[in-house]
Amino acid sequence: MANCLAIVKRKALLYFAANQALIPPLPIAGAPMSRLTFTRWLQQSPVPLPQDLIQTLQITADCCRNISAAIARGALTGMLGQAGSENIQGEDQKKLDVISNDMLLAAHAQGGHLAGMASEEMDDPFPVTTHENSRYLLLFDPLDGSSNIDINAPVGTIFSVLETAPGSNTAEVTPFLQPGTAQVAAGYAIYGPATQLIITVGHGVDAFTLDPDSGEFLLTTSGMMIPEETQEFAINMSNQRHWEAPVQRYVGELLEGKTGVRGKDFNMRWIAAMVADVHRILTRGGVFLYPLDSKTASKGGKLRLMYEANPMAWLVEQAGGAATTGRVRIMDIAPTGLHQRVPVILGARAEVERATGYHA
Ligand code: F6P
Repeated sequence: MANCLAIVKRKALLYFAANQALIPPLPIAGAPMSRLTFTRWLQQSPVPLPQDLIQTLQITADCCRNISAAIARGALTGMLGQAGSENIQGEDQKKLDVISNDMLLAAHAQGGHLAGMASEEMDDPFPVTTHENSRYLLLFDPLDGSSNIDINAPVGTIFSVLETAPGSNTAEVTPFLQPGTAQVAAGYAIYGPATQLIITVGHGVDAFTLDPDSGEFLLTTSGMMIPEETQEFAINMSNQRHWEAPVQRYVGELLEGKTGVRGKDFNMRWIAAMVADVHRILTRGGVFLYPLDSKTASKGGKLRLMYEANPMAWLVEQAGGAATTGRVRIMDIAPTGLHQRVPVILGARAEVERATGYHA
């Protein structure tokens, strides 16, 4: 197994080098230059961003562009399928999980603007010691929804940036254990029909689309907003018999549609990649639930707080929505572990408040 992982890692580094060469870093003739580039957006933030944070976000975006290219070539280069290893959560790792993780580690370790990193794919934090004054921490799920890779369905990279005191021991977990309210940036890249980067630094949510010609992320939506009401929900219905009573009641009422207390029909969508389900909600509204159930209760839930729930919760709140566990606001949770899991209900404010109210 270790041997298999070593081969995958070696291929990842080769990929990284190849992708750097294949995607031109600068705009070329014909690119839609009237749109704001991500680089300019970082430089023009209404509240100026510290240089190290700008570099951190720029490197993350560049890396997402390279991950997107690696995914697009996956079937051609034998990069689909299992890596033959498991992550800390006991989940099978895909080759592209490992490759994406290594690409982010390599890019940021070289970049030198971070104090440390933590990832879904690594048991322990990854300290960066290039600059002793670095104070940013990057937490990420390098490839969310990776079971979608082999069927050519959307996947994504989710990230959250925290700040710590320079000189903190980032080989330890403690500096990372901050609530979602302490995030200084959060976002995701979605690798679908188009590659898009969605981000907040606390002034709303903006969306950038990767221009394949220039290799630039260009601003395509500014100020994404989630309508308060919706007629669309997302939940893995196969877990229904394991849910708690409040979620049984909430979803039961959605399913009754016009004939029930809600008085309107609801449609259901489930992409099985949080990044894609949240993207739909940020784009056209809806509510997403991965609630507590008897299968995952002993672990605290299904989704990871630090690099899935927190960044998505902040994006959703910044877009006018809400995000709770059913009992408390997600961003208020004081974390106890790097890989802590929580139940998640997020999206249209009125729906999240109703579902949360049923837990009261
Ligand atoms: O990270 C976990 C994840 O892949 C999420 O992206 C997604 O929402 C969920 O698991 C899918 O879970 P299930 O296998 O229950 O559909």
